[in-house]
Amino acid sequence: MKYLASALPLLFLYSPSLVTATSSYADNAETAIKAMNDKWYNTTTGLWDGLWWNSANTLTAVINFALVDDSWKPTAQDLITNTYAKAPNHNPGVTSTTFLNNFYDDEGWWALALIAAYDLTGNNDYLDSAVTIFDDMTTGWTTPCNGGIWWSKDKQAVVSIANELFLSVAAHLANRVPDQKDAALSWARATWSWFSDIGVIAPNNTIHDGVDTTCKAHDDSPFFTYNQGVILGGLVELNKATGESSWIDEAHKLAAGALAHFANGDGNVLTEFGGVDEDNNLAQFKGIFVRNLAILEKASHKDAYTTVIKTSANSLWKNDQSGGVVGPHWQGPFVDVTAPSQSSGIDCLVAAAAVS
Ligand SMILES: *[C@@H]1O[C@H](CO)[C@@H](O)[C@H](O)[C@H]1NC(C)=O
Ligand SMILES: *[C@@H]1O[C@H](CO)[C@@H](O)[C@H](O)[C@H]1NC(C)=O
Repeated sequence: MKYLASALPLLFLYSPSLVTATSSYADNAETAIKAMNDKWYNTTTGLWDGLWWNSANTLTAVINFALVDDSWKPTAQDLITNTYAKAPNHNPGVTSTTFLNNFYDDEGWWALALIAAYDLTGNNDYLDSAVTIFDDMTTGWTTPCNGGIWWSKDKQAVVSIANELFLSVAAHLANRVPDQKDAALSWARATWSWFSDIGVIAPNNTIHDGVDTTCKAHDDSPFFTYNQGVILGGLVELNKATGESSWIDEAHKLAAGALAHFANGDGNVLTEFGGVDEDNNLAQFKGIFVRNLAILEKASHKDAYTTVIKTSANSLWKNDQSGGVVGPHWQGPFVDVTAPSQSSGIDCLVAAAAVS
């Protein structure tokens, strides 16, 4: 629910000379995930620190690590099983015990987490739940802006993140649910047409947070890393679903805009602007971006991506970490730790392991 209105040790021995960057990123990710679970995972609720949409992102990060490091798979499966069973009972603001609530973006985060759970386990229950969530998200396509979905069922705001999530979930489903491929692809294409035309993408390829009540994006609509991230994963899935290279071209443009804005002038370390120390929500964003940048990197390599991913992972471990706990300022200092800052840090370490 975040839209800001105004804004194991290794199982084998090796000689030190053979220690690669890959293994250290993976080792660091594992250390950070263990710290995350010890400090914040509540087996009764299936959530980390009681947080809702953030927990969907944390689960996704842990699953992505298991997709990189097989030895982590049993632990990830246990977390998935428990969270899938318990979390819906703690869905905030609703009495239903499902992943549906008032916020289309919350729904999108859980749909992507459940699709990742399906990718790891092959368990169709998770995919079916993601389809149920997606079907609910389609009911948001009633804005006065000639398309797009609302941020929430209160129909007060039209924001970038909800629409990027809608596109990404649709494109992921197109690649996983054969009998719904055509319908899901239509939704994803319609969403891109709308999104790329409504004015949220600035000329320099940074993405505004949303549009106002007259369906226009204004210069004072802020820029956040996660808005540059979710779209990348969605476009890569669209490329897989269609074989059309244009989706990757679009993704490279948006990634370039993002790196110029959020990783420039700071030694290639990602920075969130706008109060990352004050807000649980903002602390989650960089991880979402870097996770999706790694997806684009795997689909279509650019040195700039691996540089930012690895430099950020190195910096946060050196300057913004203690005992496997990670803060929100990847350049340091190590202050303002929250469960979301930890979750974001894990995303970056997993991304670095994935692209190494
Ligand atoms: C886990 O969540 C339950 C339900 O909200 C709560 O009663 C319990 O105190 C929490 N446990 C810890 C260790 O925080
Ligand atoms: C990109 O354009 C936006 C909107 O005009 C501006 O606020 C932002 O500073 C620009 N970013 C860079 C890196 O030039």
